[in-house]
Formats: sequence, structure tokens, C-alpha cells
Amino acid sequence: MQKPILITGASGTIGGFLVESLLAKKQPIRLALRDSQKSPYHQSAVSFDYRDDKSMQKALEGIEQVFWLTPSPTQVKKEEAFDDLEVASRFLDHMKQTGVQHIVRISGMGADLYKESAHFRIEELIRASGIAYTILRPAFFMQIFSIYYRNSIQKQDRINLYDAGVRESFVDARDIAAVAAEAFLKPQHRNQIYTLTANDLLNYKDIAEILTRVLGRNISYTAKSDEDSIQALLSSGWTLEAAKSYGMLLQAVQQGAFSTHTDDVKKVLGREPITFIQYAEDHASIWSKSTQQEKLS
Ligand SMILES: NC(=O)c1ccc[n+]([C@@H]2O[C@H](COP(=O)([O-])OP(=O)(O)OC[C@H]3O[C@@H](n4cnc5c(N)ncnc54)[C@H](OP(=O)(O)O)[C@@H]3O)[C@@H](O)[C@H]2O)c1
Repeated sequence: MQKPILITGASGTIGGFLVESLLAKKQPIRLALRDSQKSPYHQSAVSFDYRDDKSMQKALEGIEQVFWLTPSPTQVKKEEAFDDLEVASRFLDHMKQTGVQHIVRISGMGADLYKESAHFRIEELIRASGIAYTILRPAFFMQIFSIYYRNSIQKQDRINLYDAGVRESFVDARDIAAVAAEAFLKPQHRNQIYTLTANDLLNYKDIAEILTRVLGRNISYTAKSDEDSIQALLSSGWTLEAAKSYGMLLQAVQQGAFSTHTDDVKKVLGREPITFIQYAEDHASIWSKSTQQEKLS
């Protein structure tokens, strides 16, 4: 019998798309969730928390393949914060002990340019572990505009973000999940590193223009200074470590780490990546004023 694939981060953006994709491909899966009862697929879910070793060990029983995602430190509440590298090292030890044979790991674009970053150091641990891997280094997710910046676009018709000063690449999280699903199904993706981007390089002004066209109302872009961005995060309760890691990310963007695109999505999926325009059209209802009114009424 085929063994299930363990999916961490299953309630998150990529994880949600990956679950749908693997279920559509009739793959047995096991969802690793902090609250396994909350999932619509809770019959195939297990309780899992990176801060609880026993839950990690239990979730790995009978597992050969793991989708491994750690939440971005910027999305973890202060009181729930943990040391990424320390947790990664323990999770990897459990994987070695239980006989895991393949890991599909979510890292980040440009991780190799910042060798001190947690993403790169975890990649190194995986490569040294002897377990086969597929490392995915995605660019910024397009979905940040429909999740984190949804309210300012919907309510104030504006994008208020740091000034990158360069055009960056983005990728639709649906493409990341589709590549992850292929990586589990086809052995040629083992011991490969893919940098996942769409084909267009965009700045926030370009994105405001696309949203203006797609939504049929004026969406503007206001540049925020790096300092303001970081201060706003600190005063909204982010940990200093998370704010620092965001600061590092801003620097990387401004140095052009995200200003290239690759053909890795096409190489794996055999089709062009989803464009930003396509993403915006597919998500238009999320930013619509009528969605807001319906929710308020
Ligand atoms: N956003 C971007 O533009 C971007 C770009 C490149 C790379 N990345 C990388 O992508 C990853 C984030 O992916 P995503 O946006 O799909 O994630 P996400 O939507 O933020 O979801 C995070 C997941 O982690 C789970 N989680 C949180 N704390 C946990 C804990 N203590 N133990 C176990 N699970 C826990 C959450 O589960 P609960 O439901 O229990 O909270 C959730 O399923 C990060 O590693 C980030 O660095 C992001």
C-alpha cells in the first residue's frame, strides 16, 4: 500500500493548494496541523507542533515523504516564536530515525546569496542528511496582495509598501504547490533545487496599474521607507528577530536578489507559470467593494 505524504503547514497558503492538488491526484496524505480538528480533512490529520518533539515523532510514523514548510518568523506570534534552526535540526533527526526518504522543502528565492539566513542553513542541514530532497526557492507569493495587503487595497484603494527601487519577481502559490506535487510524484525531481518565479518582473507601481485595470477603479501605490516598515511591524507586536529578518529581506530585494526570473516552473510543469494579470483576475472578487459591503451587512 502506498504510504501517505506528510504535509506540514497544511492550513497555510501553499499547504492548502498542495492538499487539493495531491487529493486530486489520489495520493494518500497526512496533514500535520496544530489543531487537527479544525481541518475539513481532519480524518487524515495529526496534531503537530514544531515546539513539541513527541508530536513530530508521532506524525512521522510510517511516512516516507515529507512536505516541509516552516512558518515565516514574521507570521508567528511573539509568544509562539521558536528557533527555526534548532527546530529544523530536531525535525530532521526525527526524519532520519523514522526512515524518511524524500523531503520537499520550502525555502526562499536567493537563499544561497544569504548564507547566514535560516532558509539557507536549513537547506544545508537537509543536503548533509543523506535524505533525498527537492528544495523549492519561491519568489514573493502573488497571494501577499490578497492576504496580507488585502484590506488596504479593498478599503483604501492603495498599496502601501516599502520602496524596492527595483522590479521584482513574484510567483503564484498555486504554481508552488503544483511543483511540490510533481516533485512527490516523479523521481527525476529528487536532489534538485528549483527557483520558482513567474515570467514578469514588476514593481509596486506596475502592480497598482494591473489592479487598476482588472478592478476598474484607481489603485495607487504609496512608497513606505524601510524604517517606517520595520517600526510599524515592531509596534504591531512583531518580535525583534522577525523585524530583523524582514529588514534583511528588504535589503535583499533592494540588492536585486529577486530581480530575475527562471524557467523552473515551466521545466517541472510543462506550461508557462501563472502571470500576475491572471492571478489578479482570478482573485478580483477578494478586493471588490461589493465583497466588503456584503461582509459588513
Ligand atoms: N510569503 C512569501 O512571499 C514567501 C516567499 C518565499 C518563501 N516564503 C516561505 O514560505 C513559507 C510560508 O509559506 P505559507 O505562506 O504557505 O505559510 P502560511 O500560510 O504562513 O502558513 C504557515 C503554516 O505554518 C503552521 N504553523 C505555525 N506555527 C506552527 C508550529 N509551531 N508548528 C507547526 N506548524 C505551525 C501554520 O499552522 P496553523 O494553522 O496552526 O497556524 C500554517 O499552516 C515560509 O517559510 C516563508 O519563508 C514565503
